[in-house]
Amino acid sequence: MRASMQWRMAAGVLVLAAAWASGVVAQAAQDVQSVQLSQEAAVAIGTGTHGAGHVAMKPMVAATPPMGWNSWNFFAGKVTDKDIRDTADLLVSTGMRDAGYVYVNIDDTWEGKRDAAGKIQSNEKFPDMKALADYVHSKGLKLGIYSSPGAKTCAGYEASLGHEEQDAQTYAQWGIDYLKYDLCSYGGVMRQMAPNDVPAQNKLMREAYEKMHQAIVKTGRPMVYSLCQYGDDSVWDWGPSVGANLWRTTGDISANFDRMSLIGRSQAGLEKFAAPGHWNDPDMLEVGNGRLNHDENLTHMTLWAMLAAPLIAGNNLTQMTPEIAAILMNKEVIAIDQDGLGKQGNRVYAEGPVEIWAKQLRGGTKAVAIFNFGETASEMRGIRLHLKEMGFAGSVTARDVWAAKDLGKIKNDWRTTIPRHGVVLLVVR
Ligand code: GLA
Repeated sequence: MRASMQWRMAAGVLVLAAAWASGVVAQAAQDVQSVQLSQEAAVAIGTGTHGAGHVAMKPMVAATPPMGWNSWNFFAGKVTDKDIRDTADLLVSTGMRDAGYVYVNIDDTWEGKRDAAGKIQSNEKFPDMKALADYVHSKGLKLGIYSSPGAKTCAGYEASLGHEEQDAQTYAQWGIDYLKYDLCSYGGVMRQMAPNDVPAQNKLMREAYEKMHQAIVKTGRPMVYSLCQYGDDSVWDWGPSVGANLWRTTGDISANFDRMSLIGRSQAGLEKFAAPGHWNDPDMLEVGNGRLNHDENLTHMTLWAMLAAPLIAGNNLTQMTPEIAAILMNKEVIAIDQDGLGKQGNRVYAEGPVEIWAKQLRGGTKAVAIFNFGETASEMRGIRLHLKEMGFAGSVTARDVWAAKDLGKIKNDWRTTIPRHGVVLLVVR
């Protein structure tokens, strides 16, 4: 048995054991990731091909790309305790939690000053972080928080430089389950400590990320560790070595088609760095924000699912329309993103604005997305599906996912109309 397989099984067994011990296998708080691992572990146990001696010490964090919600894309600096509570309520009442969106992440601007002992306080927008965490947990959700290895966050608030262990301990006391650690002002520290020496600056950055990783480990509390340094220094190469469960691969997204599609398309080639526990992060979703129209929202959601990207919604749930809810909660699309193989998709073919991407799924199935990034609808004239390149000989059985329609057998010359800025998403086998 391959070592990686053994490790995955061992991690799964531990999750099962932990679930058994707490008497709850799939309670609401348990995210999709653990449930999937439990299933995998059950298969492993059934075959009897592994030994208990391989059981790892920790359950796998982020076995599938993390799913949840983050305050930044909509609320930015205005986010309050009430917004987080309202969001938690709505994640439950809209069905998003049960669709897998379990992390409620407070981004920048929650931070207050430090007390005399150096302990970080939340500011007046967040009167009691422990009480907020308890509330979020009572809804079967998990709470995420944000800091920087620098002295200040990107928005100029108090950050963790020199207080890493203390902050990690505070987060653990509050009941935090997820930390986004944003480089921000640490860039200045790097330049000051190693002027004109980029390799030395990058080493300082990696050490800063490792320092917080160790601080989290020391708390004994599992936390998803999310690196945010905008994809610098090929972070996908070293992210796992500093304990990252996900790492931003780009600068900030914004709620417009050009920025979103540029970021999504630029992920091609990074697929080899994604695996259970370690994901490329092309930034949080803007579905339902800004001026993205229906087809653009479908393209955004599809692209992120094809990329096995973290699905961290960033919209205002108090104003979510049924149309946006249906996009964010499409079960088949989420299943593509969360597929247990953990394979990130890649571009198979491009002709001008039309691109075909494929993602390997369990059981020999593939998701195939045909995007039209162009300004007019495309009839796919002369464009083939490239099924052979995807490993299929002859015809395949296909389902159009967004149309929720089985297409029966289709061949390489199958054609459809792809709207401007739109997508057709197939699952084929
Ligand atoms: C950076 C990050 C964003 C957000 C802001 C908060 O720009 O990339 O995702 O966290 O900081 O200040």
